[in-house]
Amino acid sequence: MVQQRVHREVVSFVRRSARMRAGQRAAWERHQAAYVLEVARSETSTSVHPDARLDLPAAFGREAPLIVEIGPGTGESLVSMARARPEADVLAFEVYQPAVAQILGQLARGHVSNVRVVAADAHAGLQHLIAPAGIAELWTFFPDPWPKSRHHKRRLVDAEFVGLAVERLRRGARWRLATDWTDYAEQMRAVLDAHPGLVNEHPNGARRWAERPVTRFEQRGRQAGRDVVDLAYRRV
Ligand SMILES: C[S@@+](CC[C@H](N)C(=O)[O-])C[C@H]1O[C@@H](n2cnc3c(N)ncnc32)[C@H](O)[C@@H]1O
Repeated sequence: MVQQRVHREVVSFVRRSARMRAGQRAAWERHQAAYVLEVARSETSTSVHPDARLDLPAAFGREAPLIVEIGPGTGESLVSMARARPEADVLAFEVYQPAVAQILGQLARGHVSNVRVVAADAHAGLQHLIAPAGIAELWTFFPDPWPKSRHHKRRLVDAEFVGLAVERLRRGARWRLATDWTDYAEQMRAVLDAHPGLVNEHPNGARRWAERPVTRFEQRGRQAGRDVVDLAYRRV
């Protein structure tokens, strides 16, 4: 029997030290219980065990449409976008613990109650923690661009990931993406357009999604002269 491979060799992030500054540590200790969902791991601290499960109604204290954000970083856009959508529950996957700590501080200061964070790889999270057709909306903003050709295999949005994400989107669900790397935008468009379960809502180019605040990453891209591309697809 072929054993299920639980540890992917190529991941979309760098495994960095999770050392936190004093303020981040304090935020983590104070607010982790309220917002961070613990999951069973396999080999690494950002992995998700194949048998791990989440009880989302218990975690959010209600049943509501589920928005998933992949890689919110320090949560600059997550917190205000979640606030603008009180009718939805927002589950964020972020691998970098110091960034998660910063998200927690903002959630607590803003009294935001509809966000929970899983500090794990979103690929494994979608695979093991989210039910088929479980997502009402998916956000992927400025995923790590991995600009060098030899690193392109690390890019999150590839054909395999699109296949997984589409299985997790419910009918009519929207997947919003943004990047400031033209060739990554082209790669995204190619793999998203190729999936029969998705339609491009703006085949001639989407306008910037106004609800999405400009983050440091976006600002940095603009300052470096890169154009930002927004994409929006719908699950058919
Ligand atoms: C370039 S930053 C963008 C942050 C934020 N979306 C923004 O627009 O400011 C990418 C983020 O995605 C996270 N990340 C990368 N791959 C991930 C994965 N597979 N699962 C969860 N988070 C991931 C990184 O740790 C980082 O915080």
